[in-house]
Amino acid sequence: MPEIDYQKILRRIKPSESEYSEVNDLAVNLISIINSVAANNNIDARAVLVGSVAKDTWLAGKADIDIFIEFPLNTEESELKDKGLFLGYECIKRMQGQYELRYASHPYVTGLINGFEIDFVPCYSIKDSSKLKSAVDRTILHTEYVKKKLEEEQKDDVILLKKFMESIETYGSEFKVGGFAGYLCELLVLYYGSFTQVLEAASDYWHYGYIIDLENFNTGSGFSDPLVVVDPVDKNRNVAAALTIQKMSEFIIASRNFLENPKEEFFSKKIIKYNVNLIKNGFNKRGTKTILLVFKPPEVPADAIFPQLKKTETSLKKIIERAGFQVYGSGYWTDQTNIAIILLEMLVWELPIIKKHAGPYIWSKKHQKRFLDKYGSNAWIENDQWMVDIERDYCDVESLLRDFLTPKNIKHLKSGKHVKEEILNHVEIVDIDHFINSIDDEDLLLKFLYEYINKSGNIWR
Ligand code: UTP
Ligand code: MN
Repeated sequence: MPEIDYQKILRRIKPSESEYSEVNDLAVNLISIINSVAANNNIDARAVLVGSVAKDTWLAGKADIDIFIEFPLNTEESELKDKGLFLGYECIKRMQGQYELRYASHPYVTGLINGFEIDFVPCYSIKDSSKLKSAVDRTILHTEYVKKKLEEEQKDDVILLKKFMESIETYGSEFKVGGFAGYLCELLVLYYGSFTQVLEAASDYWHYGYIIDLENFNTGSGFSDPLVVVDPVDKNRNVAAALTIQKMSEFIIASRNFLENPKEEFFSKKIIKYNVNLIKNGFNKRGTKTILLVFKPPEVPADAIFPQLKKTETSLKKIIERAGFQVYGSGYWTDQTNIAIILLEMLVWELPIIKKHAGPYIWSKKHQKRFLDKYGSNAWIENDQWMVDIERDYCDVESLLRDFLTPKNIKHLKSGKHVKEEILNHVEIVDIDHFINSIDDEDLLLKFLYEYINKSGNIWR
């Protein structure tokens, strides 16, 4: 096996001494500001540094500082929210940063201070997870667990693993990615020992439903996810719950490829060159017909948009196939501000007017009568069943779509409420050929279209 110089890679992907001190000094500073503002306003709260900055496991240039503001368990929820957000705002104001209110499962404040993104998240102070009131309350326990267990050298292994995953776009637990969370990377390194040992395990014996249970809670069989990593601080939670089978598979394949032929390039994103013409020809060559639904994305958080788009895509596929057409592939994409699209690549998009409609079996006299009352001499017998040729409602998929995405019929579409509103408000149904002319070469949308016709292209081989 060719040797690989991990130290060389780490010099590029691990924060420098000066980055460590800049980030840590800022974090210490922010925490003391929060704590003193709290004291001056008689607020019973305490700021704690969590996430990868607290654990020294962030990637060079990618520090997002996660600060949690802990309140006693008996604090009213509304008070926790108001006072927590107030402390975040005050801190950002003093540091002359820009702030923004965001929502995940709970509201929190994000600030841009000295070029760093800082999250201020109000939470409850809990000693063990049986007391937890919201998902964010576990985070402090996660941080303590990793800080206690992770050896100094293993921090490098976590950084290598995160970078390896980031390079093939399997890093990040947000719905948009469906990959591995930072905390999950840390647990994998803790469990297997090192970066290469994680890859070896994944290549050799991970399978669907594989269970990792660091604290031997024996609760793993209660989950039905592709990968189960029982949270060492909460036996009732799977840390890998957000990981999709797609991203798990891609990681396994990349691990096999790397171990067979370890190369430094696995720790960088593949640079893929594409342009409008390349994509246009790529779609044309396939001989299918690709239709896009184009509308405005709803103004809701990313955590809400992406699942709704996915649901819409799945539902449209079902509606189309029920009408007799065939979908070859599909996808969705949004920039979250101006444009959302659902892509439908059709294998069969036109059908003849004639449609064979099955009636009752001839054995039932009663059912035969009803069928013949309706269709009379048009009905015919095939083996032991009545049949009739009728006219199809829609002979091409576009007319089906145009008719379904109207106030009268949209109730048949299962999609999120917000996406449905936007579609009703305005949707364009366009052919890829026509649409692609309106995109310029810089548009991120091109990346989505390119990847659609060049699947698994970002996996190193
Ligand atoms: P981050 O997403 O910022 O992760 O969540 P991170 O560990 O700091 O890694 P980076 O920033 O990508 O390097 C902060 C903390 O929130 C909890 C974890 O405890 C994490 O350390 N968390 C976040 C989860 O438990 N699950 C998630 O899916 C996301
Ligand atoms: Mn973080």
